[in-house]
Amino acid sequence: MSAHNDPIHIKREQFPEDFLWGCSTSSYQIEGAANEDGRGPSIWDEFSAQPGRILDGSSGAIACDHYHRWPEDLDLARDLGVKAYRFSVSWPRIFPVGTGEIEERGLEFYDRLVDGIIERGMEPWLTLYHWDLPQALQLQGGWKSRATVDAFNNYADVVSRRLGDRVKHWITHNEPWCSCIMGYYEGVHAPGETSLQSALQACHHVLLSHGQATKIIRTNVPGAQIGITLSLHPIIPASDNAADLAAKVRHDGMRNRWFLDPLYGRGYPQDTVSLMGELCPQVFDNDMEDIAMPTDFLGVNYYFPEVVKDAPGTYPFNVEIVETPNVERTAFGWQVAPEKMTELLLRIQADYAPANIYLTENGSTYDDVFNAAGEIIDEQRKRYLARHLVAALDSVKAGVNLNGYFVWSLLDNFEWAQGYLRRFGLTYIDYQTQRRILKESGKWFARFLKSEHQR
Ligand code: FCB
Repeated sequence: MSAHNDPIHIKREQFPEDFLWGCSTSSYQIEGAANEDGRGPSIWDEFSAQPGRILDGSSGAIACDHYHRWPEDLDLARDLGVKAYRFSVSWPRIFPVGTGEIEERGLEFYDRLVDGIIERGMEPWLTLYHWDLPQALQLQGGWKSRATVDAFNNYADVVSRRLGDRVKHWITHNEPWCSCIMGYYEGVHAPGETSLQSALQACHHVLLSHGQATKIIRTNVPGAQIGITLSLHPIIPASDNAADLAAKVRHDGMRNRWFLDPLYGRGYPQDTVSLMGELCPQVFDNDMEDIAMPTDFLGVNYYFPEVVKDAPGTYPFNVEIVETPNVERTAFGWQVAPEKMTELLLRIQADYAPANIYLTENGSTYDDVFNAAGEIIDEQRKRYLARHLVAALDSVKAGVNLNGYFVWSLLDNFEWAQGYLRRFGLTYIDYQTQRRILKESGKWFARFLKSEHQR
């Protein structure tokens, strides 16, 4: 699309006909019903209960009450016109203590959900791990412990045997960087630990469990399409002097290559390994082969680029993230840079050549306000979406194997450490009444998907 065209006029027909359109959700963020049907506690229940962890002191205990309202939510997704619905399974609903006895009622819930998705003409895209680890496993070390890999494999086995007759698209993990680095090093996500060494060991186990579970799902589900979803970030040097350029490479090592390199058979990046020194994870024979198990697609969650500068003395590798002034940002403070998404996808394509790439999340949070007519005319979210669709189209045109786009998110939801203060939905949730109200961005997306005239 040429620069003088307003992105808002982008048309679905400009994309390849089989380009997949979807929306994404995750279990802990929407389901609620935390104590129902035998569900065990997850690390997010535990973390949310600790004072000061969640900005508004909330938790996902009720959230969008999707556990009971899923038919209405699936109707909303269908009415948008998406062909794929991405959701995650709550591990502690299936195994209340992570291993051992199976909770049949948990499986039945996902049976109903999957049937509901298919009945509405959508494809279920199932994520096995979107961060809600059973708390009982955390008490034994969580992802720091190799035993959690075995527990995950067993969980993947049970879920894929049960749902594999209907679910053909499987995502093992969502954003290992967040579950491990934010969870075990930065301490801002569950389980709230602060050791880099633990975080790197956790990352290793998450990646290992991805590879091993891929093998298991492949055996259980004929014709399965299996991948992993990473949060990837374009890294921009604060200046073009040599020190900042080197800082960019160091940061990219941890943020992006630490995951991509081993998944695509290159082992951990040597430059980052040298910087980490003795903090590097314990790796057993065959681990790296398991991690590099071939997949069918790479899921990319794209939200924002990071600007970095050389900052001697900053742990762990002398890099500081710079909050560049005068750039456009969402209400979260995340820089809006759709053109950087195209660059990122081109780079992934050039460096790793995944069989397929799907944007499994992209979206924005802004403060939603009602107008006098009781509508939410969220022009900023709509523009964000339109501009990222243009960037997706530009990527396809430039030769990236990009085959689909999932918007984050269908519903406003529990935004982790930010609680309910951040709304990412195309649908507004009134948490008092649980009323769903489609925002203008959602209406726009539906018009786009239905090839109706764009405004
Ligand atoms: C991603 C998460 C998703 C949501 C969005 C805003 O990192 O995968 O659950 O919180 O950010």
